Amino acid sequence: MTSFDSLWAVLEPIGRNAGTGGYRRFAWTGEDATLREWFAGEAASRGMEFVVDRAGNQWAWLGDPDVDGPGVAIGSHLDSVPDGGAFDGPLGIASAFAALDALRDSASSGFRLSRPLGIVNFGDEEGARFGVACAGSRLLTGALDADRARSLTDVDGTTMAEAMAASGHAVEDVGRDEQALHRIGTFVELHIEQGRGLVELGRAVGVGAAIWPHGRWRLDIAGEANHAGTTRITDRRDAMLALAHVVIAARASAERHGAVTTCGKVMLQPNGVNAIPSHARAWLDARAASPEIVRAVLAEIGAAAALHGGTVVEESWTDRTAFAPELCARLSTLLRDAPVLETAAGHDAGILAAAGIPSAMLFVRNPTGVSHSPSEHAERDDCVRGVAALATVIEDLAG
Ligand code: HGY
Ligand code: MN
Ligand code: MN
Repeated sequence: MTSFDSLWAVLEPIGRNAGTGGYRRFAWTGEDATLREWFAGEAASRGMEFVVDRAGNQWAWLGDPDVDGPGVAIGSHLDSVPDGGAFDGPLGIASAFAALDALRDSASSGFRLSRPLGIVNFGDEEGARFGVACAGSRLLTGALDADRARSLTDVDGTTMAEAMAASGHAVEDVGRDEQALHRIGTFVELHIEQGRGLVELGRAVGVGAAIWPHGRWRLDIAGEANHAGTTRITDRRDAMLALAHVVIAARASAERHGAVTTCGKVMLQPNGVNAIPSHARAWLDARAASPEIVRAVLAEIGAAAALHGGTVVEESWTDRTAFAPELCARLSTLLRDAPVLETAAGHDAGILAAAGIPSAMLFVRNPTGVSHSPSEHAERDDCVRGVAALATVIEDLAG
């Protein structure tokens, strides 16, 4: 039983839905509080200095980056998408603690930290409750305006400010945290691969090269409430039908441009079986290898929506983010020429890289490539290989 196994045994059940096997770990909820308590407990049990930054992200430090200079930070997030998998996020944090344990166990080989080492839990990476991806790291870097963040609302109308306050976080302090940012010399995020790149290459661990540009847009289309049975077809203004046309147009545009579009969240008013919808609200996720392609797809979606009197509003945007090439090359060499892969999945490492912090990613093999699903899985032996790779990287960067 390695340290990873015991960490995973405690972390894995938190927020898991026994019926579906998926997770509901939304920001600033009870599940989030339990996860945050777990993180703080693991930090304390390792004698690490625990601190929460102005954005609500949790940090555990060995060594003092305010005295000894910016350190090496590792970590990821603990929140999930609705009914998400066990590994997306949590694997990076369990592996971070396990890698530290492995290095301490090998201290007999004289391993000593030459720089402070930090482990971070970035809050609200999925944006599943309030709609903005990587909200914790964007708030930390100032990429997300504090006032905008505080006023974001969930489907029940609860604002992020109210949810943060209910969790005991100082809402008035929320915002860019210069001191927390100054502590980070280099950030490395280990994450399950959300794709089949490593499977096809027959490797357990890979290095992240870049993150595709991607964003989220809110679509609103008005219809006219009326009776499902007595309203003639020609007299209908059916918001759901209009939405269906736009979603099909989005898929066709994606196929034309080599992009991907997804409509995974829909809200209908009045949402009654026998009432023609008076309003359709939906969220579109669009991604492609270049921002120009994403913009071209969005222009076509906007035109399709306009045909039905619909509006499209951007809620979250991440430009194409390349990780530091020299850092990627260094890690690939260090890890026996580990494959260097791009990804269309967003990550906190991308937000830090965009803020000018040298950042990199390690991917752990995902046998099916499936993610954002209860069936997301990584083999235990590959997780242990990921921990060993992360320990090797820490030794190289902070040893
Ligand atoms: O949506 C994403 O790409 C990430 O999982 N937040
Ligand atoms: Mn995710
Ligand atoms: Mn993730």
